[in-house]
Amino acid sequence: MSRAPRKVTIVGAGYVGMTCAHRAAQLELAEELVLLDVQAGRAKGIALDLAQAGAIEGFGARLVGGGDPDLAADSDLVIVTAGRPRKPGMSRSDLLEVNGRIVIQVAEWLRRNSPEAIVIVVTNPLDSMLGLMRRKLAFPAKRVIGMAGALDAARFSCFVAEATGTSVQDVDAMVLGAHGDSMVPLPAATTVAGVPVRQLLGAGPLEALVDRTRHGGAEIVKLLETGSAFFAPAAGAVQMAASILLDQRRLIPCTVELNGEYGIEGLPIGVPCVLGRNGVERIVELPLDTEARIGLNKTAGEVQRDIEALRERGLW
Ligand code: LAC
Repeated sequence: MSRAPRKVTIVGAGYVGMTCAHRAAQLELAEELVLLDVQAGRAKGIALDLAQAGAIEGFGARLVGGGDPDLAADSDLVIVTAGRPRKPGMSRSDLLEVNGRIVIQVAEWLRRNSPEAIVIVVTNPLDSMLGLMRRKLAFPAKRVIGMAGALDAARFSCFVAEATGTSVQDVDAMVLGAHGDSMVPLPAATTVAGVPVRQLLGAGPLEALVDRTRHGGAEIVKLLETGSAFFAPAAGAVQMAASILLDQRRLIPCTVELNGEYGIEGLPIGVPCVLGRNGVERIVELPLDTEARIGLNKTAGEVQRDIEALRERGLW
């Protein structure tokens, strides 16, 4: 064998983390899959349970769980899900301080033990946590990537499919911007089997779907009462991981620190990215209409505010 076994670590064994582990195992994305959590027993238990599921489902990765950060050493890819979820009525920014401290800690470990890794961040508030992770890791921006657009686009796709009476498999949706109410779903870049969605839905109904997408996370938080969404967030993170590990070069909206693209400098924002073996291989700059352009500037302002709040708390 010419290459070292591929190693993927998932930090945080909550609902999102364990669902990522299950999906990554099913897709056989790595020979070694590590699940890390401050609750070491929980991580060990889930890893053991998953290994046993593999006997039935037919996957055979080496599954390791625990609390020691060194279990993550020399990972090729790390998915960071650790952090508190939202409770009903909370905004993602309410999580800023508590999850900021967790991100700083995880960055310290990874910087030391996995300096070559590509890191996918799922922890909320996603955009500022991605910025914080990138700053503390000091890895190139193309190797520190936030999962939000995949999820928000999945939600928009789901609503478009329902409203048009078509299969969600035929819907391709695009959502830019921050992972929050100011996100920018792009009807102009959304199609059903290649047919522009605006040919299938009127402006009013389409706007209602855009609005539901913006609040898609809160809708689920409210229904669940305890915790937030996990199937679709985990599916999004693993879709990104697969594109990177298998060098699929899929075009997925991801959160990355921009370097002048879309006229934005040094801020993390969700934009369409080609994901391959090096992480973000390319950022695709879509032509935006005036409304989308205004929306993107507004969303950038919100991310900037969260970063200022981190700075004020001495966490940046
Ligand atoms: C959501 C939370 C996890 O959008 O941000 O479901």
